[in-house]
Amino acid sequence: MTFDTKQLLADSLAAIAACEFSAALEDQRITLLGKKGKVTEALKTLGSVGPEERKTLGAALNEIKKDITAAIDAKKADLTRNELNARLAHEKMDVTLPARDIPRGRIHPVTKVTEEITEIFARMGFSVAEGPDIEDDTHNFTALNIPESHPARQMHDTFYLHGNGDGKTLLRTHTSPVQIRTMSAGRPPFRVIAPGSTYRCDSDITHTPMFHQVEGFVIDKGIHMGHLKGCISEFLKTFFELDDVPVRFRPSFFPFTEPSAEVDIGCKRSHEAIEIGAPSLSSSPQAGGTEEGWLEVMGCGMVHPNVLKNCNLDPEEWQGFAFGVGIERLAMLKYGIPDLRTFFENDVRWLEYYGFMP
Ligand code: PHE
Repeated sequence: MTFDTKQLLADSLAAIAACEFSAALEDQRITLLGKKGKVTEALKTLGSVGPEERKTLGAALNEIKKDITAAIDAKKADLTRNELNARLAHEKMDVTLPARDIPRGRIHPVTKVTEEITEIFARMGFSVAEGPDIEDDTHNFTALNIPESHPARQMHDTFYLHGNGDGKTLLRTHTSPVQIRTMSAGRPPFRVIAPGSTYRCDSDITHTPMFHQVEGFVIDKGIHMGHLKGCISEFLKTFFELDDVPVRFRPSFFPFTEPSAEVDIGCKRSHEAIEIGAPSLSSSPQAGGTEEGWLEVMGCGMVHPNVLKNCNLDPEEWQGFAFGVGIERLAMLKYGIPDLRTFFENDVRWLEYYGFMP
């Protein structure tokens, strides 16, 4: 048998050289070296020739297989380089173009201030508890020493969920029900804060139907009003980063604390901003639309013995204090936000201005 290895090599090299694209070259590789390729088929014929010829033909075929492989590799490198160059020439990138704007969200002041408050109390050893926004009458009122028909129920402007006024389910009007939930579920001593949303059917410049509070309470032995004042004053100083926050404890009434107080912070407010500052004695409206006065930021007091009893705690053994802070109020004072209602208008421009970088 005669087999023209030279011709096969020449044809193959010509075919390889003629390939213009990597895909065509790959086809060619299969045609030549693939399972049924020309060279492979030629190698298969070795079995049917005499030993002498097998030797020379075998050597020659292996030689051309090597040459073809080398030619394909070289051509492949060539084509890849050319193809890359063509792409680079075609796909231009202008590195001087300004970067695309990535929209960035802001942290809402309510979220930010809640985190700040939580952190300060956590450092004082308080742990965090939560309760449901949808409450029952018992936790929101009765257990907090506000019996049915008590006038304090009217004070709360409650959103009832079933019926009107006679239903048992409501949107909690304060975070105080978390006191009841926590005290009934565990054993004292307690040192707990509970941030969350609260709801009252009330809307004007200083009230929105939904707002946020942080409840705080400490139940232990021998707790007195001095602990309450110390804890709250220390908190306010740390929160406002000021040594002399003008704070006023004003006697007040809550059915679940006795004695009770409201905490006010001295401030100056105009329609552009609100800032902390001790009001002068006359606290009358100033020139330029600025008003001096006190802003109520929290209610507090010593936990009423009836509340302790309702949670199966003996008031002779355990005492405590509690407070409920208005988060928006604190945010307004710390960050100079003049109008409470803007917190919930969902105006992105407002959030860009008053919000915080994540
Ligand atoms: N729950 C009261 C309110 O919302 C605040 C408060 C909490 C007062 C705890 C005293 C003790 O107005």
